[in-house]
Amino acid sequence: MKNILLIKNKINKFNKKISVSGDKSLSIRWAIISAMALGRSRAYNLLDSEDVNNSLIALKKLGVKIIKNKKFCDIFGRGLNGFSFKENTTINAQNSGTFARLILGALARTEKNIILKGDKSLSLRDFSRVIKPLNQFGVKISSNKNRLPIKIRGTEYLRPINYEELKGSAQVKTCIMLAALNTPGTTKIKCVPSRDHTERLFKHLKIKLKINKHKKYQILNIEGCKQYGTLNYNIPGDISSASFFIVLTLLSKNSKLIIKNINVNKSRTGIIDILKKMNGKIIIRNRKKYKGEDIGDIYVKSTSNLKSINCPKKMNSRAIDELPLIFLVAAKAKGTSYFRNIGELKHKESDRLKLSSKFLKMIGVTVKSTSNSLKIFGIPNLETKKTYTIKNFMKDHRIFMLACIASLVLGGTWKIHDKNSVNTSFPEFLKILKKLGANLK
Ligand code: S3P
Repeated sequence: MKNILLIKNKINKFNKKISVSGDKSLSIRWAIISAMALGRSRAYNLLDSEDVNNSLIALKKLGVKIIKNKKFCDIFGRGLNGFSFKENTTINAQNSGTFARLILGALARTEKNIILKGDKSLSLRDFSRVIKPLNQFGVKISSNKNRLPIKIRGTEYLRPINYEELKGSAQVKTCIMLAALNTPGTTKIKCVPSRDHTERLFKHLKIKLKINKHKKYQILNIEGCKQYGTLNYNIPGDISSASFFIVLTLLSKNSKLIIKNINVNKSRTGIIDILKKMNGKIIIRNRKKYKGEDIGDIYVKSTSNLKSINCPKKMNSRAIDELPLIFLVAAKAKGTSYFRNIGELKHKESDRLKLSSKFLKMIGVTVKSTSNSLKIFGIPNLETKKTYTIKNFMKDHRIFMLACIASLVLGGTWKIHDKNSVNTSFPEFLKILKKLGANLK
């Protein structure tokens, strides 16, 4: 069946070593930051997925020369204010919220109209979160009620801003940091924790960034208008992609897995800390530093005595993309798990809060949800023999992969639509599942 995946069997026990493709957040940041550098930057292991490839196509439309082959990708940066394109050029971020939000910041200084659009899912997502700070910088933006398509016109007269980012959104924080690069003076961002790859890259590039750390928030001070050098980078594996296999191993019987060379930056390892609190047998080994980032190998083993969690709120932003997978673990854990302050899940590629609770109910789990929380009543021996059809999930890549993992640990017959959605972030996903022994049709 075209674009429908059929899974009819649970996965048998496995004991394997794998690696997953390059980190998506780092790949997109590398591309935009290199486009604003002066000279040639080279990346190895750049994620070869639709989100990243569409970002490269858009950067080319902005006048940036890019050469990509199987081994590496070269970007010939044109400097901080170097984008060059015709008035009213349109770029298309397709499904990528990260590229869309970040490129708007990078365009703050460009004095030409540019139109940014996206696919159906991205066109439903909120952009007021980046329009507001960019307006304060002096950037002119018109939008479709804070949604795409957006027309942006940057300015030579950018003013530094003081901004409070209290959603815990790394995309918003990075958008402001990129706009700050072209702004004279010091931009200040008071922000609650979110993934900090941009800060680490700025430090590595010796961009003037000072961070004042407080207990619950940080203040970033970025001094603008100083050109930085090129960025050669070997992108480590994506923990968000690795997480599908971490959960598959935990919930399978008598299995072991090693996942090599993963970015284990603390702002991304919430899933490991949460699953360990639930008794998950996971260890990070061979830790090393790489250009300001942390890298390691993840060792995981099947765990039969998983217990519920009352998830501390502060862990959410460190596991934001992995929460639907963690909910699946909670569904098979002993006791009642509780997740609060998770309203941001409604603003992802799909409404992941709604779809996750619908999914759990479908497989027979009792849940109680509000617009900002989810309670899951776990069933440790949960299994099924039923037939399920998974469709209408906005082609959300992470929901597709969640359904695959659920089918392989719960049994039953699953017809999962929109198989191509994996291409957004992880085209190798199904190949790796087969390597672990999954029977996919
Ligand atoms: C990302 C930040 C997160 C995350 C997304 C990638 C990034 O989004 O969900 O997949 O690379 O900065 P928010 O900033 O909306 O939390």
